[in-house]
Amino acid sequence: MPVISFESVTKVYPLPAGDVVALAGVDIAIEQGEFVLIMGPSGSGKSTILNIMGSLDVPTSGEVTIAGKNIGRMDDDELTLMRRDHIGFIFQQFNLIPLLSVVENVEYPLILKGGRNGSRGRAEEVLKAVGIAESHFTHKPGQLSGGQQQRVAIARALVNDPDFLLCDEPTGNLDSKTGTAIMDLLDRMNREEGKTIVMVTHDPRMTEYADRTIRLVDGKVAT
Ligand SMILES: Nc1ncnc2c1ncn2[C@@H]1O[C@H](COP(=O)(O)OP(=O)(O)OP(=O)(O)O)[C@@H](O)[C@H]1O
Ligand SMILES: [Mg+2]
Repeated sequence: MPVISFESVTKVYPLPAGDVVALAGVDIAIEQGEFVLIMGPSGSGKSTILNIMGSLDVPTSGEVTIAGKNIGRMDDDELTLMRRDHIGFIFQQFNLIPLLSVVENVEYPLILKGGRNGSRGRAEEVLKAVGIAESHFTHKPGQLSGGQQQRVAIARALVNDPDFLLCDEPTGNLDSKTGTAIMDLLDRMNREEGKTIVMVTHDPRMTEYADRTIRLVDGKVAT
C-alpha cells in the first residue's frame, strides 16, 4: 500500500479575477522508502502538491491518503497529530526560530509532543547525525552558514522520527557544493534510515539521487 496517494486531486483558488486551477486531476502513489523528485516550471503546482501531502493544505476535490488515512475525513486535531507523528518538513528558507539556539530549535518539536524528558539528549544525537559540531549547539541560527542552517532544519525534521520527509527546494538557497552535501545527507537518510523522501527541485542534477521524477505541467502530471 502506498504511504502517500492522490486520486484525481484538484486544487482551485477562487480569486476575484477568476479561478486559479493549481492542480487539475493529479494521481500519485508514493511507496514506503522511495526517493521521489517533483519537477516542473514555476507555477506548475509543485508546492501545492507538497503542502497537500503534508496536510498543510486541503484539496478542492479528490482523495488524499497519508499513512493509510484519508485526510479528507480528519479534523484539525487529527491533522496536527498526523503532521507531528509522520511528516518532516524541510524548506528552502530553513525556517528556523532565530531567537532559539541550534539545539533548542531541534528540541522544540519534542517538547511540543511530550515535554522535556530526554528531549535535549535526543536533539543532540540527531544534530550529531546530520554533521553539526557540538561547539555549534548553543549558537543562534543566524551565526551559522546556510548549509549548516539547513542541516539543523533537517535535524529538526528528523527528531520525531517521521515516516517521510517533504522537501521544497532544500538546496535552493545554497551554493552547488553545499547543496551536494545536503543531497548526500538526505540520500543517506533515505538509504540508511529508510525515510521516504519527496523533494521539489529545479535542479536537474538531483535526478541521479532519486528513484524517479514526477514532472508537472500546468497542474497535471506529464506523461
Ligand atoms: N494562496 C494562493 N492563492 C491563489 N493562487 C495560488 C495560491 N497559492 C498558489 N497559487 C497558484 O497556484 C499555482 C501553483 O502554485 P505553486 O506554488 O504550487 O507552484 P510551484 O510549482 O511551486 O511554483 P514555484 O516553482 O515558483 O515555486 C500558481 O498559478 C499559483 O499562482
Ligand atoms: Mg513552489
